[in-house]
Amino acid sequence: MTAELHTPGSREAFVAQAVERIETAARQAVAERGSFSLALSGGSTPRPVYEALAARARFPWARTNVFLGDERCVPADDPRSNWRMIREALLERLRPGDRPASVWPMDGSEAPAQAAESLSRAMARFFALGPGQYPELDLILLGLGPDGHTASLFPGSPALVSMGIVTHTPPAPLDPPVERLTLTLPVLGAARQVLFLAGPDKLPLVRDILAGNRPELPAAMVRPAAGGPVWLVQAPAA
Ligand code: 6PG
Repeated sequence: MTAELHTPGSREAFVAQAVERIETAARQAVAERGSFSLALSGGSTPRPVYEALAARARFPWARTNVFLGDERCVPADDPRSNWRMIREALLERLRPGDRPASVWPMDGSEAPAQAAESLSRAMARFFALGPGQYPELDLILLGLGPDGHTASLFPGSPALVSMGIVTHTPPAPLDPPVERLTLTLPVLGAARQVLFLAGPDKLPLVRDILAGNRPELPAAMVRPAAGGPVWLVQAPAA
């Protein structure tokens, strides 16, 4: 399956379609393999999607393992922390009795190289990986930065050539200018599904990427072997 672009005409439709795609992926994964591994994007765009997802009545949270696509190297309660945003928008809003089977925050307060190494080892154990193997996450949600970065893979970054599972990057060239932890391109490429979520301001850049005009951008390098990715980009107001 080649890349797909869907452009819902309103924020409400954007959120509804994102939630529908996540729920469908979850049900398919649980039916086929008994569990659902979901990596969440940081940034601001996904927040309303997570809030709506938390309210869904029959989401299989007890079978869902929640990962993070990337993290800023700041304390967990720092306003810049992606995990703090995910806690506030999703985990703390879940219905009574709903809780994920496991959650895998990235430790932004540990030394980045050590945090990347220990999380890589823990994920390799969890997915029972052999040397050189990568976790096949069922669904990875990604955002798109104005410079074409995704997760914390920035243009020209040494992280783009990492063959690990989680790697760390120097201070980002964009706000917040802090070191980052991120899933690597091989992990993004091994995913069963990748769903990009982007706001209306990013539509011209998305079209440029999908036209093949920007191969140098990290977001253009995400080509899952299983097909896709799917881009869900809210259309600008008419
Ligand atoms: C981060 C994100 C990053 C984000 C994009 C888009 O840590 O900031 O993981 O990759 O998804 O920068 O951010 P917005 O959704 O805020 O536009």
